[in-house]
Amino acid sequence: MTLPGDPRPVKAGKAREEEARSPTPRDDPQPVPPRHEAEQASLPSPCLAADTDRFASLPSPCLAADTERFASLPSPCFVVDEERLAANLAVLDLVARRSGARILLALKAFAMFSVFPLLRRTLHGVCASSPHEARLGREEFSAPDAEREVHVFAAAYSEEDIRETARTADHIVFNSPAQLERFGPLAREVAAKCGRSPEFGLRLNPEHSEGTVPMYDPCTPGSRLGVRRRDLQGVSPSRLRALGVTGLHFHTLCEQDAAALARTLAATEEKFGEYLPQMRMLNFGGGHLITRPGYDLDLLCRCIGLTAAKYGLQIYLEPGEAVALNAGVLVCTVLDIVRADMPVAVLDTSAAAHMPDILEMPYRPEVAGAGTPGEKAWTCRLAGKSCLAGDVMGEYSFDVPLRPGDRVIFQDMAHYTMVKTSTFNGLALPSIALAQKHGGVRLVRAFSYEDFKRRLS
Ligand SMILES: Cc1ncc(COP(=O)(O)O)c(C=O)c1O
Repeated sequence: MTLPGDPRPVKAGKAREEEARSPTPRDDPQPVPPRHEAEQASLPSPCLAADTDRFASLPSPCLAADTERFASLPSPCFVVDEERLAANLAVLDLVARRSGARILLALKAFAMFSVFPLLRRTLHGVCASSPHEARLGREEFSAPDAEREVHVFAAAYSEEDIRETARTADHIVFNSPAQLERFGPLAREVAAKCGRSPEFGLRLNPEHSEGTVPMYDPCTPGSRLGVRRRDLQGVSPSRLRALGVTGLHFHTLCEQDAAALARTLAATEEKFGEYLPQMRMLNFGGGHLITRPGYDLDLLCRCIGLTAAKYGLQIYLEPGEAVALNAGVLVCTVLDIVRADMPVAVLDTSAAAHMPDILEMPYRPEVAGAGTPGEKAWTCRLAGKSCLAGDVMGEYSFDVPLRPGDRVIFQDMAHYTMVKTSTFNGLALPSIALAQKHGGVRLVRAFSYEDFKRRLS
């Protein structure tokens, strides 16, 4: 079977600017290893292409310049778009139904629990990175009338982490055989007292890099994430089962298309294939930009279907960004225009405190109605109100000069934003609102001095 190459990625999130600078890696496709004819017959048919086009026609992002709708909101404010979330969920639902995969929300990317009732209609559960995320997933995602799965992975657990995690998790994924051996029995004991019996998983490192940015590449040399093949020397598949491991997990991608997954799967099978028939489940991790228009849904479903059939596995995906892609904005207000070497609009928000990915990555977020420097009549720098000299979002141009009181709307701010905010400089956290399907906007949460003070002592 020959696989199509990745389309060049849209710069949507974490890896955007870096990828823009580097050539797309490994665009030449590698074939997935050969399968039996009988397995091929049970594959989902390649009929999703048209659906991708249908979703591509959605306005993106829907909230782009909805300034009137936002007029009554406090500033700064994250506004999450219910309609866009639903559109993303429709794509994920299609994938789940066609492929048989179970899809989990990665809470590290998006944890706005007021919309969990919407998300859990489609998604099968959450994946958490800590006892607190796991508890949030259990409390808010897995409703009493709609039991959903809580999976947890952490690079390492403390004894206290395991005690807490065992009370809430259905799946505990370990990052090393040593942690599995040390904490497996304790997790079983604590869970049994709460009437739970979690499954155990082990995270793999297939040592196959698809990313160009080491910060977001779990297979970069020296990475602490996942067990390398050599770490399992002398650990037979039956020994893993005896230790209670029923699932394997890899997470190696970042904002990538299905061809990158196919290559990763091939590497995983090559290194860890002997363990797969012994397992009940295989988790393909996150980093699949499934809801980006043009994403190869057919190939994704084939990868899932083929792997599930070949080894008799339940496949899981745990996307974060794809769930909330283009599903929210950060609305803020111009406080002042400072005449520096160029006009600088000081905003009532902050890259450092409210959109830290901008500085971490770094990247320049899109702003509604703005162009690149020089493209429109008036060019300025947008900057935050903290005292950090580098608290700068980037340079933009506008049709008319910005003035104090004007609203500025940063695009694609639902994922990896509100989960990462801080009160650096004592800045108030942005409020959180939901733009509802039928036109209204509901303020969900506003923060106060107390939220700032409670984090300190
Ligand atoms: C283990 C794991 N699973 C899932 C995800 C979600 O990835 P994404 O938001 O890129 O889909 C991450 C992100 O870092 C992760 O580390």
